[in-house]
Amino acid sequence: MIFTFISLYFNTCCIHGFRYLVNSMLILLERLLWLILLVLSIYYCIISCLSSVERFQTKSTHIGLERNSYYFKTSMPAVTICPMQRLNKTFFDQYCLGKVKGKAKDELFDFLENLANSTYTNFKDIPQYDSIDDSLQKLDIEPKDYMKLIYNLTYDGTYEPIEKLRIRCVDGQVILKVRQILTEFGLCYLCSSYLGEEYSSRYLIFGMYPESNKHLTSQQVVDVKRATFFDKDVGFTLMGFDVTAIDSYIHSAFEVMKVDNNFGYSPEGAAYEPEVEEIVADAELETETSIKQRKCRYYHESNLTHYPFYTKNTCLQECRINLAYRVCKCIPHFYPNRIANPKPVCSYKILKSCFANHAGYFLKFYENDIDEKPAICYCEQNCIDAVIKLKSALAMRGAKQLLGSMGKFVFHEHLAKESIQAASHLFVYGSFG
Ligand SMILES: *[C@@H]1O[C@H](CO)[C@@H](O)[C@H](O)[C@H]1NC(C)=O
Ligand SMILES: *[C@@H]1O[C@H](CO)[C@@H](O)[C@H](O)[C@H]1NC(C)=O
Ligand SMILES: *[C@@H]1O[C@H](CO)[C@@H](O)[C@H](O)[C@H]1NC(C)=O
Ligand SMILES: *[C@@H]1O[C@H](CO)[C@@H](O)[C@H](O)[C@H]1NC(C)=O
Repeated sequence: MIFTFISLYFNTCCIHGFRYLVNSMLILLERLLWLILLVLSIYYCIISCLSSVERFQTKSTHIGLERNSYYFKTSMPAVTICPMQRLNKTFFDQYCLGKVKGKAKDELFDFLENLANSTYTNFKDIPQYDSIDDSLQKLDIEPKDYMKLIYNLTYDGTYEPIEKLRIRCVDGQVILKVRQILTEFGLCYLCSSYLGEEYSSRYLIFGMYPESNKHLTSQQVVDVKRATFFDKDVGFTLMGFDVTAIDSYIHSAFEVMKVDNNFGYSPEGAAYEPEVEEIVADAELETETSIKQRKCRYYHESNLTHYPFYTKNTCLQECRINLAYRVCKCIPHFYPNRIANPKPVCSYKILKSCFANHAGYFLKFYENDIDEKPAICYCEQNCIDAVIKLKSALAMRGAKQLLGSMGKFVFHEHLAKESIQAASHLFVYGSFG
């Protein structure tokens, strides 16, 4: 009964080939052959269907075109400045308060100053005095406290009451927000950035948002300066660094700095002429596509462990944390470590031994010099970003104070495959007198 039904169905079925399975004219071997052919064809049919679905989910392309380019607004790049003189002597004196005296105190200051100024390229410069271990023990400082102590002993110049001395970022009447941040080069200052308040030293070290700056409340403060084709003079000035040298980084306003990408130490002011290409995304891109489809992440779509937000460079920093942890079994003090299972923080001795030997490889994501391939590290792009190309950077000898800004403003655009990019030449003049 059932067999007759199946044979009737196969005989009249629309799918080519089924008929031969039940054709009594054919011998068993031939039917078997047909069966194999049928199974294979159905198998490949399913495979090719699934690959279309997969392609839809991961390799979709979106092409957009915006016509009114004259009204594009391009954001000025961000500037990160790391002062090369870190600690405040007054704070240090208060902190020691007779517990550490004389030569040991001077040595401790030198040690902490260098620790605060340390990054992958200069771990070997941390001095090793005989008195250090003793002093650290007296003050009850363990490696996990290094960064908190450095934060406590650093004077945040953005809160300075006297305007002339304050670390500030201005363009004429407009004030741009400046904040102290935690970077792979210790505590630095950032101006002109779209990143949220999570990216501040206080949040990354203590989990608290920065205090509001009571000296600025009466003025108009903007995050980032934006400009269109019709704006002639665009620029801003970051100043108030009362030190002998600074280290500067110019990067996208949607990104954090890269410690291996600085523009050199400069004892005086510097002027930069960057070219900005902004990558913008449709408002619907975020809601209508998954991360897998668009292959990029927004700021708040973080899957990182140490950072509560996502940018490509923070993702790379996290790769470096994991690499350092794998090789040296601990992580440097300048990384946020407020996570469920904090990783051990390296003592200065390990920084001097293990890190000084591997630092160059860590920066390039190699485990050691024998490795041919970089350590595995996959970081998605930022959905909204800007590409900065520096056309020229001039050290301004003798120009201790350059106020205002000048420069011409050229504008051109190109259309990239997956996004619209607007490009413009902007001049950022930083004066750090
Ligand atoms: C801080 O580190 C930089 C880079 O290694 C170095 O050029 C500078 O002299 C250091 N600053 C101090 C005060 O030692
Ligand atoms: C140290 O901090 C005090 C504020 O408590 C400030 O007035 C002084 O200028 C700071 N010194 C340096 C060298 O930054
Ligand atoms: C830093 O300062 C805070 C508040 O003033 C204090 O509670 C903390 O113990 C200090 N941390 C270190 C390592 O000195
Ligand atoms: C974050 O997501 C990417 C893929 O989207 C993955 O490769 C990476 O391992 C994830 N990172 C963490 C820390 O889970």
